[in-house]
Amino acid sequence: MEIKATDTTIITWSGNALAVGIFEGKTEITGELAQLNENLGGIITELIEETEFDGKLGNIVATRVGSKTPIRKLILVGLGKTEELKTDTLSMATATIARLAKLEKVTTLGISLPIVKDAATTAEIITTAIILTLHQDNRFKSEIEDKGAKLETVELLELGAQEKAITKGEKIASGVILARELVAAPANSVTPITMAQTAEEIAKEYGLSLEILEEEDCEKLGMGAFLGVAKASDLPPKFIHLTYQPEGTPRRKLAIIGKGLTFDTGGYNLKVAGGIETMKMDMGGGAATLGAAKAIGQLKPDVEVHFISAVTENMISGRGMHPGDILTASNGKTIEVNNTDAEGRLTLADALVFADKLGVDAMVDLATLTGACVVALGDDISGLWSIDEKLAQEIKTAAEIAGEKFWQMPLEEKYFEGLKSDIADMKNTGPRQGGAITAAVFLKQFVEKTPWVHLDIAGPVWAEKENGVNNKGATGFPVRTLVNWVLN
Ligand code: BES
Ligand code: MN
Ligand code: ZN
Repeated sequence: MEIKATDTTIITWSGNALAVGIFEGKTEITGELAQLNENLGGIITELIEETEFDGKLGNIVATRVGSKTPIRKLILVGLGKTEELKTDTLSMATATIARLAKLEKVTTLGISLPIVKDAATTAEIITTAIILTLHQDNRFKSEIEDKGAKLETVELLELGAQEKAITKGEKIASGVILARELVAAPANSVTPITMAQTAEEIAKEYGLSLEILEEEDCEKLGMGAFLGVAKASDLPPKFIHLTYQPEGTPRRKLAIIGKGLTFDTGGYNLKVAGGIETMKMDMGGGAATLGAAKAIGQLKPDVEVHFISAVTENMISGRGMHPGDILTASNGKTIEVNNTDAEGRLTLADALVFADKLGVDAMVDLATLTGACVVALGDDISGLWSIDEKLAQEIKTAAEIAGEKFWQMPLEEKYFEGLKSDIADMKNTGPRQGGAITAAVFLKQFVEKTPWVHLDIAGPVWAEKENGVNNKGATGFPVRTLVNWVLN
């Protein structure tokens, strides 16, 4: 599929299907659309009347157009209220169009949507949305159901000068898709070894530098928390550190740290049925970190970025940690593991200590960390914790453009009381209440000097049903936010 920018208008475009955005309550058509309506013998006004189309966001109607006109099909898509127009509106409307185009076997599609922010942002957002909506993961099917005609060309009307923005949108989408495919792949396919291989492929392809710390290297650095989790696995742990270095002096230095549990059984605090089956997604943070690296490697901003993931699986075996074991992290702090299922924070502890020493200007960790965060915020919204308001705002701004949702939660120091241990510096698990907050407070013990944001992405890495640009399954959340954050 090719996405092109063109100066052609809705009146002069010819092709298979033309999709036009209409605002809620603005169905009294004027201007170019009125002209097109006249050219098509009043079919647009007829369609609006017959379907009672109201322009609400998510609504879509289509009709066949007579064969003597330059288009075969006309699609009207709702944009919602004019005053509520934002970049996410473009994503939602584009997703709706793309789904209908697929269903109707459209081969050439013209899209006319309003400019949001500026022409470049508009072209970029539409491009990413088309690719993400149409992305289908057939890697594990032995047979692909070929459902006939495929979308071949998409033209973004009246966005003629925006080739660069389209390319940018394609690069971002490729990062999101990598994250989706890593998360969707089962734990017998994506392992610590293959995660390291993926990092190597990114490094080679886009010229990033790569450091993989093997078990011995981690031991030398005293990463007892990460290695405590890794002990029960038959697979070697891999501590991935990819670095994107711009040409010239970087404007800024950043680190992105993703939780990378390729499977989480819970360990001896074994998960039960209903909780364990989906735990291949527990490397969602690491997957998004690699996805962001793939996009950044292509976009080449003037910012140095470190991509870090301490990758392992949380298994059970005679070598595994016992509940009650005490681990020593690489900053010397001791942790009483009162619950082996709170393993993500153990792996992140050493990853944060490592990143904190890099001397970067800011770091963000992303982790499918707690079920408690999903209880608090549901499937679509990630929790965000920071004591650095400026940095928190940077992430929120980046998220807004991406249409990904975050909600800031309190980093309540007082809750450290719940983590007090009689025997070690802290326990890894506090009371059930406020479980996502104590997890964040736990992580804070491993950050000394770098401005830091913690994101609990346990809900939004996976979609139970299709929603906007997300298909059922892995979403690639929050690659777009991370990329925007680095670029801004
Ligand atoms: N990977 C899980 C968190 C999770 C739960 C992610 C549901 C996605 C969906 C994490 O390692 C975990 O098991 N957390 C425990 C913490 C508890 C033991 C304090 C949890 O949330 O139950
Ligand atoms: Mn767990
Ligand atoms: Zn986990």
